[in-house]
Amino acid sequence: MSVFYPKASKTIVGHKAVREALRDTQTYSSDLQGDSDVRDYRQLPLEVDPPRHHLYRVALAPYFVKPTIELLIPEFRSHTENLIADFFQHGDLEVGQELALPLVMKNLGVIYSRPQDVDEWISWGPDVWTAESEVRDGKVLHRYLDAIYEEALRKSTDDIWSQIAHLEIEGQQISAAEFRGIAGVMLAGGRDTVVKLFTGIMWHFGNKPEDLQLLRSNPELLGPAIQEFLRFFTPLPAMNRTVVPESSTADLPDDRYVGISFISGNFDETVFTNPFEIDFNRGRNPHLSFGFGPHTCLGNHIAEIEAKVFLEALLNSGKNWKVSSEDIRYHQAPYTNVPDHFGAIKIATA
Ligand code: HEM
Repeated sequence: MSVFYPKASKTIVGHKAVREALRDTQTYSSDLQGDSDVRDYRQLPLEVDPPRHHLYRVALAPYFVKPTIELLIPEFRSHTENLIADFFQHGDLEVGQELALPLVMKNLGVIYSRPQDVDEWISWGPDVWTAESEVRDGKVLHRYLDAIYEEALRKSTDDIWSQIAHLEIEGQQISAAEFRGIAGVMLAGGRDTVVKLFTGIMWHFGNKPEDLQLLRSNPELLGPAIQEFLRFFTPLPAMNRTVVPESSTADLPDDRYVGISFISGNFDETVFTNPFEIDFNRGRNPHLSFGFGPHTCLGNHIAEIEAKVFLEALLNSGKNWKVSSEDIRYHQAPYTNVPDHFGAIKIATA
């Protein structure tokens, strides 16, 4: 998930200040319309404030809780191992498109019990707004959302989209726009973020094979390694809030947006020693990669479990590799050694 907003008039930085701002939903409201170039509905529960926000969270929580996702581990594991074996066998493949994206989409197919849609989701690429197009238009996502909504209302199946289409909030069935907002974020939220995380992991081990060996010899560091990769790569580096809730008035000031920099919290030297180093031995790792407060990522357990299965499969593959070519856009100062966007990353087995 990445949301496009007009430029923020100021940005809140630092671990403490970011956490405080994320808790203070009265001052820093999520009642705002992101991606206004490509959509005219709110992503839910992302773009709504408490107390209504809480109603969406409660309705959606059962799909995202840890015990539900843990039951799916054997299925994740089976296609993860197959994809990794194929990837290494072919050689000279690109990590994002040929490994991370298909893997993450297959996982999503399992989570939402929609294996029949996986090929279509993969064909959209990592960014749903630019699927089939150089410019952002959202056409492909919206065509899909309208089709599944129509199908969910017409057929009496009990699949994920039917359940979502029939969700009731305060006793009222959700609207078509609410369906678009919920299903849209369920498809986009765990897509480019997890793809970036997995590509980053492959890139890091390709550059620093001793870290892969460290995990092979110390499997108890697997959990800390996942948290450290999440911290370092900060797949979603910032989000906006507004100081004037957008549904409160028609007269909206242009300077209402405030950026909340998750990445600044993750590289705050008062919290993380040597933050620019990837270190699996940090102990406590209170990173802000999943945000903080009421909008904390709903898919955090999904991402962590997917990452655990992915890392285990890499360790068990017995393979070592080097990065053979890379195309990376880095963040601006002070995060200049942190990848912001992975273009093509290729590896060669060593
Ligand atoms: C490494 C992977 C991921 C990262 C770094 C990430 C990051 C985030 C962040 C920072 C937020 C908070 C946004 C804010 O405060 O404005 C968020 C919210 C959200 N994420 Fe994720 N996410 C990831 C994976 C996922 C997955 C796998 C899903 C679902 C399949 C998901 C679904 C959501 C949803 C529904 C929200 C909105 C929660 C709310 O507003 O209450 N995310 N995510």
